[in-house]
Amino acid sequence: MTTADPGVPSLLSGIQPSGTLHIGNYLGAIRQHIANAAQTEGRGEAFFFIANYHALTTLRDAERLRQLSFDVALDYLALGFDPAKARLFLQSDVPEVTELTWVFLTLTPVSQLEKGVSYKDKVAQGLSANGGLLCYPILQAADILAYGDPRQPVLVPVGADQKQNVEIARDLAMRFNHTFATEDAPVLPVPEHVIQEEVAVVPGTDGRKMSKSYGNTIPIFAEGKPLKKTVMSIVTDSTPLEEPKDPEADNVFALIRLFGTEAEREEIAASYRAGGYGYGHAKKALLEMLNREFGEARERRRQLAERPDDVWDVLREGATAARAAASATLARVREATGLVTTLDR
Ligand code: ADP
Ligand code: TRP
Repeated sequence: MTTADPGVPSLLSGIQPSGTLHIGNYLGAIRQHIANAAQTEGRGEAFFFIANYHALTTLRDAERLRQLSFDVALDYLALGFDPAKARLFLQSDVPEVTELTWVFLTLTPVSQLEKGVSYKDKVAQGLSANGGLLCYPILQAADILAYGDPRQPVLVPVGADQKQNVEIARDLAMRFNHTFATEDAPVLPVPEHVIQEEVAVVPGTDGRKMSKSYGNTIPIFAEGKPLKKTVMSIVTDSTPLEEPKDPEADNVFALIRLFGTEAEREEIAASYRAGGYGYGHAKKALLEMLNREFGEARERRRQLAERPDDVWDVLREGATAARAAASATLARVREATGLVTTLDR
């Protein structure tokens, strides 16, 4: 792997270790991250990180944060993330991003922070509005701007809900370059989001958006009895078995649509409409689809879990490369802003 070939964009994304990853995260983000990480042609380095500083805005349990952070790495590797093609690392291994956050905060109007969608959402959900939640998009901007070559774009594959945060990073990069640099020698790269539009919002077992905050998730690595219990708990209406049903109005079919083959989808939709096909049948079919989709990854995860040192090695190597890139960025930022250090004199 070579660093920042001039002419090619770098790639970067992150995921919070704030709960057990679910199939909404998989279809909305992880699957795309893994495919992007494998696609090395036409790009420079690719960085994927486990955003544990971000998770600290909502999680206050050291053992759980440690475990969830490791589990995300395990999940990504089991699902096929190839560490020979892209870097996987823990955000907290790159403290440079927190210093960048401070610098960027000094360029950010408070009114802009208060308009952040995720801040407003979280406050609306009744979560305590700590300063970290308010400044969350600026920490994310620091992530996004920390690793790239300033003369190249940085591509950021994210779910549609993260678009605003990438735009904030983009504005900040331009504002910073405008304030502290010249056009022919930019200090920060300008990021662009890459949204996988066709991924719909994955519904949870209660029909609302699947989210760990709603307790309606199907974990990617659930299996056996617990998985069966979760699938059986998907909320359906009370249309009797014999009667025809509308697949478009059903939560089970919404998931079958995402995990079934085209032939399966058509066949099951026809059975719904014909009647004599119950929600229990549909749930059984969905269960089989989930087992098919994640069966191999579960096996790989079991094997990897027995070799935790291999996982730590991947994270350490990723962190070493990421930190080198971030400290180069921070050195340019310090120089451009006049933040003097005496330690290298
Ligand atoms: P959660 O809502 O469970 O807290 P996050 O907000 O941490 O999930 O989301 C992590 C990533 O997964 C985001 O990029 C988001 O777009 C994606 N994602 C989360 N839930 C869903 C869903 N139900 N459908 C599609 N994508 C989702
Ligand atoms: N906020 C993102 C999420 O909840 C995670 C994240 C943190 C991220 N830093 C990032 C995503 C930088 C993309 C780029 O999904």
